[in-house]
Amino acid sequence: MRADRKSVLVTAGASGIGAFIAAAFHRDGARVHVADIDGPALDRMKSENPEYLTTRADVSEYAEVKRVFRSHFGQYGGMDVLVNCAGIAGPTGVLETVRLEDWRRCLAVNLDATFLCAQKAIPSMKSRHSGRIINIASTAGWHGYPLRAPYSAAKWAVIGLTKSLAMELGQYGITVNAICPGSVEGARMDRVIAAEAQEKGISEDEVRAIYTRGCSMRTFMSGQDIADMAIFLASDQASRVSGQVMNVDGHLENIATMDDLVSPVGNPSAP
Ligand SMILES: NC(=O)c1ccc[n+]([C@@H]2O[C@H](COP(=O)([O-])OP(=O)(O)OC[C@H]3O[C@@H](n4cnc5c(N)ncnc54)[C@H](O)[C@@H]3O)[C@@H](O)[C@H]2O)c1
Repeated sequence: MRADRKSVLVTAGASGIGAFIAAAFHRDGARVHVADIDGPALDRMKSENPEYLTTRADVSEYAEVKRVFRSHFGQYGGMDVLVNCAGIAGPTGVLETVRLEDWRRCLAVNLDATFLCAQKAIPSMKSRHSGRIINIASTAGWHGYPLRAPYSAAKWAVIGLTKSLAMELGQYGITVNAICPGSVEGARMDRVIAAEAQEKGISEDEVRAIYTRGCSMRTFMSGQDIADMAIFLASDQASRVSGQVMNVDGHLENIATMDDLVSPVGNPSAP
C-alpha cells in the first residue's frame, strides 16, 4: 500500500474535498488525523471510522493549530504528510463592496492556516529527512476570479508559499506541492453558485452553465479526483515531484467565459 502506516494530517477533513482525501489515505493504510472546525461533523466521522484521530479546531488560529499538532505528535510521534485543505469561499461581490473583516477572514482560513500548519509540521519532517506537504489551492489562484477577489488573492498566495517552501525544503527531502481543483461537485459549489446567481440576478442554472462552459471537458470535478492527486503526491512515485501546481480541473482554459459573471451577462447557451 502506497500510504501504509504513514501519519497524515488533513485540515478541514470532516466534509467536502478533505473528507474524500482523508478516506483515500485511510483506504491506503495511512494513520489519518482530521482537524476541522465543525464538531458534529467530526463526531459523525469518528463514529463511522473510529480509527481516525479527530481534533476540533479552527486552523487559522495559532493556539488551536498548536493543539492539533500536540495531539498528532502525541499519537503518532511525527508527521509524514500534511494536507492543508482548509479554505473558505469568502465574500461574493465586486471589490468595492468587500468588507475588511470578510477579506481578513478569507485570507486567514485559506492562507494563515496553511502557513501555521506548515510551520508546525516542518521541524518533524526535517528531523526525519522526509515529508510531503500538499496545499489545496484553486484554479482561482491561476486565473483570477471575478466577484471573488479575496479568495483568488488568497489562493495565489498559497501558490507562492508552496513554491517558496519547496525551494527551502528540497534539501531536506521534503516535497511541497499545490493542487488546484476546478469546480468540484458538492455543497460548497452549490453555495457559491447560489451567491453568484443572486449577485448577478441570473438563475443558478445559468451560473452553472458559465462554469461548465469554461472547462474544456465540460464537467465539474468530483472530490475523488482531487483525492487521487493527493494520494499520488504522497506516494513513492512522486518522490521527485516538488514545487508543482497540479491542476485537477478538466482543463479550465476558457476562463474568458468567466467575464459573463461580471457584465454584461452572456448567453449561457452560446458555444
Ligand atoms: N469546492 C470547490 O469547487 C473547490 C474548488 C477549488 C478549490 N477548493 C478548495 O478546496 C478546499 C476544500 O474545499 P471544500 O469544497 O471541501 O470546502 P467546504 O466548504 O465543503 O468545507 C470543508 C470543510 O472545511 C471546514 N472548515 C472551514 N473553515 C475551517 C477552519 N477555519 N478550520 C478548520 N476547518 C474549517 C468545514 O467545517 C468543512 O468541514 C478549500 O481550500 C477550497 O478553497 C474547492
